[in-house]
Amino acid sequence: MKNQTLVQLVNQLTLDEKIGQLVQLSGEFFHGSDLSLGPQQKLGIEQQTIDVVGSVLNVTGAQVTRKIQTDYLRKSRHKIPLLFMADIIYGYRTVFPIPLGLGATWNPALIQSAYQAAAQEARAAGAHVTYAPMVDLVRDARWGRCLESTGEDPLLNADFAKAMVEGIQQEKGGTLLGIAACVKHFAAYGAAEGGRDYNTVDMSERKLRQDYLSGYKAAVEAGCKLVMTSFNTYDGIPATANQFLIKQILREEWQFDGVVISDYAAVQELIPHGIAADDREAAKLAIEATNDIDMKTRCYAKELRPLLESGAIDQRLIDDAVYHVLKLKKDLGLFEDPFRGSSEEVEAQILLSEENRKLARKVASEAIVLLQNKQEVLPLTPKKEKILLVGPYGDNQAMIGLWAVHGKTEDVTTLKTALQNTVSEKYVHYEPGCPLLEDDSILGDFGYTASGNSSSAAQQDLWLKEALKAGTEADIILFAMGEHSLQSGEAGSRTDLHLPAVQRAFIKKMTALGKKNILINFSGRPLVLKEETKQMDAILQAWFPGTEGAQAIVDILFGKVNPSGRLSMSFPEDVGQLPLYYNHFNTGRPLNSKTHTGRFVSKYLDCSNEPLFPFGYGLSFGEASYHSLKLSDSTMNETLEAEITIRNNSAYSRLETVQLYIRDHVGSVVRPVKELKKYIKIPLSPYEEITVLFTITKEDLFYYQKDLTFGVEPGLFTLFIGKNSAEGEAATFELL
Ligand code: GLC
Repeated sequence: MKNQTLVQLVNQLTLDEKIGQLVQLSGEFFHGSDLSLGPQQKLGIEQQTIDVVGSVLNVTGAQVTRKIQTDYLRKSRHKIPLLFMADIIYGYRTVFPIPLGLGATWNPALIQSAYQAAAQEARAAGAHVTYAPMVDLVRDARWGRCLESTGEDPLLNADFAKAMVEGIQQEKGGTLLGIAACVKHFAAYGAAEGGRDYNTVDMSERKLRQDYLSGYKAAVEAGCKLVMTSFNTYDGIPATANQFLIKQILREEWQFDGVVISDYAAVQELIPHGIAADDREAAKLAIEATNDIDMKTRCYAKELRPLLESGAIDQRLIDDAVYHVLKLKKDLGLFEDPFRGSSEEVEAQILLSEENRKLARKVASEAIVLLQNKQEVLPLTPKKEKILLVGPYGDNQAMIGLWAVHGKTEDVTTLKTALQNTVSEKYVHYEPGCPLLEDDSILGDFGYTASGNSSSAAQQDLWLKEALKAGTEADIILFAMGEHSLQSGEAGSRTDLHLPAVQRAFIKKMTALGKKNILINFSGRPLVLKEETKQMDAILQAWFPGTEGAQAIVDILFGKVNPSGRLSMSFPEDVGQLPLYYNHFNTGRPLNSKTHTGRFVSKYLDCSNEPLFPFGYGLSFGEASYHSLKLSDSTMNETLEAEITIRNNSAYSRLETVQLYIRDHVGSVVRPVKELKKYIKIPLSPYEEITVLFTITKEDLFYYQKDLTFGVEPGLFTLFIGKNSAEGEAATFELL
């Protein structure tokens, strides 16, 4: 039911005022910040259009947003406030770990509190909408935007999508206490062929619905106010003009009546895609798909009027889009308070508060994944052994990752500082060791450029000599290595996922010293760490851990925190295995085939089929054992109980993520060898033994069957419960 007051307001607007509401420009058009994170092109938009534009992207800060809003409203005939949208993907000024790390927490409740904190900071700074959560499912680590995803599983992604939307919006009784969330990128952007950003996406409708849509759907069901279309095609039609995606699935099936906004310049990109001959056709296709806002192109601004006047489009398309935008402004309370309480005083109280720093440190400590710990070299005993810290992330504040565009690296404590604050310089010596990259000229820029990492050969020789000398006097060598933050994230696709060559050469020389070696890997994606598993005693995957990441790493190194992170995306043994994911089909010639032997099975001649580290994997200090899996019955009608006993066999308290998977052995279409269906993260005291009970319902087993109906056939199932997707107890049951 439409709000009649808004309908009347729409009807009072001139055509130019209506079209203005459907255009989004960046800050430089408003003499605000020129933080423009995408291709730059002159738009040729007149000032009269700029004066009635409905929204602006990536301008934040109470002072500047209040000024722009005040100037804008002065000229607004109907006093319709300007909407401020921004990329607040994993934190505003307090930056949390990248979402691929947040996924590794397996703790949606904790992440909801993180996004709530981020939204309060953003609201204080005058932001009304964030282009988050990004919920694209990812299976290919070559794609740089794995960074922004919570991983490869549909269920886990859906849980995090819900938690992030609820954290961002904090909707109470129809009022948004936070800011509006814009789920993205609709749809299936993470399936770009070759892991190459902006590339073609093509898949069956079944695969789209079964594997890729769960995050967007969960976000919409959680009340997300906006949806952003993706750059890619689906079934040969770019998402921004794709009526199957937007009109049929989003608006009709899911009943979404909020704002659909294109991604940056995606309306005009319908031309190079080859589905529109010019701006006018691009505008027509996008508005007919019910894409409401054109982000940062001139198509809507210049072409909607001639399209309407020529009768090529119906007035209703424009009026409906304007209504969606005004409804969003109403839901945000902007008509009553265009500033939504933002002020420099509130900013000063909330941004980077001690409370938010503590939360960021806790989230980072649950996001970090212990991948290897030979002879339990970790945790370290403070002030017992001499540590040499080396590598490009040893004394580096660049720990917030590519998309923390409103965060500040100067807020970050470096690993060197955090270590020396904990055990003093007497026990921690630092040497640079080697540069981050051989050459960073290929990285381009993303609102910032690489900080001149390329150092001279002489400099590198000197660094190596000093590191080797210091290494002979150390007991433990801590390698702080990884990707440059511009090597992942948007437009950060890569085909070689090893550590940079200059770092690997340095590691080879340093590990020859025969000391205890610990690698801390900073990356926005899974890297290929096969060589490092041989060279290192312990490996910590730190992601880009955010403002408080270094403190969280040190808490784990010295056992103040027992690492509990579990991978939400598989780490490949080799880039040639990609795309790689745990919930794959069995094929007709599986590796363990009983009928086909030797060569004629689905495998590589030169590499295993298995990941180096599987989905759900991560170590903690001490061991936990799983035993005594019992099912309530060997057959199932509507529900089935499964219980398992878990024992903490160590003196360490731990957080254990118990994971339940199922396999449907025979379906009307082939089914994955495993699918995550339940999980719980529970605290275990030293030597504690507990029994965990899960209840599976028949609906938990539903999938998109041969005719695309959502259901399940009777038959044999296997249920697995374990500490990751590769290890666990199994039991079978018959669904009747
Ligand atoms: C970018 C990204 C999108 C972001 C938008 C606004 O190109 O694809 O995730 O929210 O433009 O900056």
